[in-house]
Amino acid sequence: MKDTFLQDIVEHLNQNPKKLPSKYFYNQKGSKLFQMIMDMPEYYLTNSEFEILETQSEDIYHSIDSSKKYEIVEFGAGDGSKTKLLLKEFLKHQPDLIYSPIDISKSALDGLVNSFKSELPNLNVNPINDVYFSALESLSEKNTTKIVLFLGSNIGNFKDEQELDFLRAISRNLTTDDFLYIGFDLRKDPNVILDAYNDRTGITAEFNLNLLQRINNELGGNFDLNKFKHYPTYDPITGEAKSYLISMAEQKVKIGEHEFHFDYAEPIFMEVSKKYTEEQIDELAANTGFKKVKNFYDCRHFFTDSLWVVT
Ligand code: AVJ
Repeated sequence: MKDTFLQDIVEHLNQNPKKLPSKYFYNQKGSKLFQMIMDMPEYYLTNSEFEILETQSEDIYHSIDSSKKYEIVEFGAGDGSKTKLLLKEFLKHQPDLIYSPIDISKSALDGLVNSFKSELPNLNVNPINDVYFSALESLSEKNTTKIVLFLGSNIGNFKDEQELDFLRAISRNLTTDDFLYIGFDLRKDPNVILDAYNDRTGITAEFNLNLLQRINNELGGNFDLNKFKHYPTYDPITGEAKSYLISMAEQKVKIGEHEFHFDYAEPIFMEVSKKYTEEQIDELAANTGFKKVKNFYDCRHFFTDSLWVVT
């Protein structure tokens, strides 16, 4: 595990332009910082999706309605706070529901299991601490109707090819009539989007810089966090919000035996968070083995949870 982390980091920093993979943001500190991001007034994504699940869970349940038994599998479950709203509705109809949350963060998953024990004590929880791609195969062969959840617009972090690969891998591992319930952040006033990744309190900056700290701690790096500055952008044509860390000096950084040279003002590309049009969502479903059943929206139309069925 440590070796793949090191290899991945070195490989990405040797690219031109330099990159770091955002999936490594989520160590214990990073998961805590992301929870703080979700609580920020600027970060409308969480509030919007929370509203959808709080007000429309019954409608969602009835859009899936089937005489079969359900198993709910969630990719990137995090602390599961939004999912609880949907699970409560399903439990009304199916008390023996199985819920399998998958997350790369052990600490987030432990937190989920603990809070579910007290709040939904009767729910059958089967946590899986893994990365998305290896967890795909664990979509079980039981005789249940599967509903895969992929909330929070986590899909927006993938590059275009990865996005298609991942969604196709999900439909391939499911059977006809299984469902995917997936969150997408929608296009909107670009200033609203940019603010969500450029909060005044600096939490998002800290969230990005934390990966440099993690590399220092776990891989013997010597990044000087004071010499990198968070720089977010949003392009309304591509719908891509991107984050960079900019080197504020010409400098050398060591990670174990490896050395990297940074020019003054050189960027490290950290993360993309894509924003979608409704047409893109329909097209994505059609291109990956699904058909859209229905979109659920918050009252501001900032976000949509899209229900897809395997074709
Ligand atoms: C967890 C991937 C949905 O891209 O909006 C939040 C992560 N990065 N602020 C996003 C994130 C900076 C977030 N996702």
